[in-house]
Amino acid sequence: MRVDSLLREAVRVLDVAGCETPRVDAELILAHVLRTTRSAVVAQGEARLDDRASQEVERLVSRRARREPLAYVLGEWGFRRLVLRVDRRVLVPRPETEVVVERCLARLSGQDRPRVLDVGTGSGAIALAIADEHPGARVSALDASAGALEVARENVARTRLAVELLHHDLFNGLPAGPWDLVVSNPPYVSPAELEGLEPEVREWEPREALVAEGATEAVVRFALSVLRPGGALVLESAANGAERVARLLGELGYAEVRVSADLAGRPRVVEGVVPAPGQPLGAEVSPP
Ligand SMILES: C[S@@+](CC[C@H](N)C(=O)[O-])C[C@H]1O[C@@H](n2cnc3c(N)ncnc32)[C@H](O)[C@@H]1O
Repeated sequence: MRVDSLLREAVRVLDVAGCETPRVDAELILAHVLRTTRSAVVAQGEARLDDRASQEVERLVSRRARREPLAYVLGEWGFRRLVLRVDRRVLVPRPETEVVVERCLARLSGQDRPRVLDVGTGSGAIALAIADEHPGARVSALDASAGALEVARENVARTRLAVELLHHDLFNGLPAGPWDLVVSNPPYVSPAELEGLEPEVREWEPREALVAEGATEAVVRFALSVLRPGGALVLESAANGAERVARLLGELGYAEVRVSADLAGRPRVVEGVVPAPGQPLGAEVSPP
């Protein structure tokens, strides 16, 4: 079958299924099967696919048409400079979480061998990106999900980056540090909000990665006792919850509390520093 015919049919099927970006998704599926780029798929419309490749495209398109996230259909997803393995056991790493990494790198700047803890690591995205972009960082990452840790382990092997993985429930406290940085993208969706989310999230992503009441508060409280004085906490939050999380950090005694915006300008990343002895507590919140 010709590439352009297969592409046209894939776009139609995904459009009918209600996928938000049918053309991009179809191009990415073809590019994946043909081991090429999206632009090459578009440029090579007249080329022919053999039966095996055509059937593989049709199989992946029908998975996507059931609203399975494109990342699971492809089995891998880009995050910062890495391409990570992903499947139903882990949250698909999001662009807003790349801003979390950005803030962590800013906090770690100038530290030779900082100790970093990623709480709720999922695919390992944050931990691995920090290990990749701050060579010398000693990174540990925990998750309560054995399945997520298996995926994270595959990603450690795939990227050949050194990240220690721990099977641990954050509600039992955090591993003793002292850590120079604790980072987390904890579950922060309420059960009611989950019902209103798109099928890709609601029906496919692990519920425990999305909903865990009190997880953010637990990380904020426990991090206080495992961060060194001067160490930083960096958290992702819902856009409508960032102000509340920033207030909590201030109330609990974090200093230099700051909120940063994601790429769409929404307040999403909250950070603060454990004050060194003598430093004023709960400094003012800087808006994004
Ligand atoms: C929002 S996902 C973040 C995944 C990854 N860090 C990322 O940003 O793509 C939250 C993660 O927290 C984990 N998690 C949920 N409850 C937990 C708990 N009580 N203790 C430790 N990890 C937990 C989930 O398994 C999931 O991998």
